[in-house]
Amino acid sequence: MSNNDSTSTHNDAEPQSPVAPIVYFGNTPEDQQVGVRKLVDLFYDEMDQNPNFERIRKLHPMHLDHSREKFYLFLSGWLGGPDLYSPQFGHPRLRMRHMPFPISSEDRDQWLLCMVNALRAMALPEKVIEGLMLSFFRTADWMRNQPDPEGSAKGLSTISIKGE
Ligand code: HEM
Repeated sequence: MSNNDSTSTHNDAEPQSPVAPIVYFGNTPEDQQVGVRKLVDLFYDEMDQNPNFERIRKLHPMHLDHSREKFYLFLSGWLGGPDLYSPQFGHPRLRMRHMPFPISSEDRDQWLLCMVNALRAMALPEKVIEGLMLSFFRTADWMRNQPDPEGSAKGLSTISIKGE
C-alpha cells in the first residue's frame, strides 16, 4: 500500500467492542433483545427512508430483511449480550466481509450518522450514546477500503455524534 492510501493509516487489529452496554437496552435479557431489534429496525428504516443515506442504501440489497436479521444477531454479542452470530456464521471477520463493497470516508460517515439518528430515537442516556458512537466509529473506520481523494482530509471523520 502506498503512503497516499488513507486506508492504510488504521491499525489492522480489529477494534474492541464496547463493554456490555446492552444493560441500557432493557431491564431483562428478553427486553434487551427487543431493544437491540428496535435499534436495528430504526437503523435500517433510517437508511431506507432518509435520502441523505442514499449512497450507503445503494450498497445494500433491495430487500433489507436479511440485513436486519444478520445485524441483529451480530449486535447482540457486540453489545455484550449473547453471541447469536458466530454459532450460525462463524467468526464475523467484518473487514473481510465488507471487502466486496467499496467503503470510503463518506460511506463511513453516512453509516455513522444513520446509527446516531437510530440511537437518538431509542432515547438512551447521552453518555451511553457517546460511548457507543466511539466504538462504532472505530469499527466503521476500520472497514474503510477505498482511498480518499489526494489532498482531502476526508480520512478524518467530518461528522459529530450530535447527528442531525
Ligand atoms: C463503514 C460503513 C459501513 C458500510 C457502508 C456497511 C455496509 C454493509 C453492506 C453493504 C453489507 C452487506 C449487506 C448486508 O448483509 O446487509 C454489510 C453487512 C454487514 N455489516 Fe456493515 N457496513 C458498514 C459498517 C458496519 C459496522 C460499523 C458494523 C458493525 C459494528 C457492520 C456490521 C455488519 C454485519 C454484521 C454485516 C453482515 C455480515 C455477514 O455476515 O455477511 N457494518 N455492511
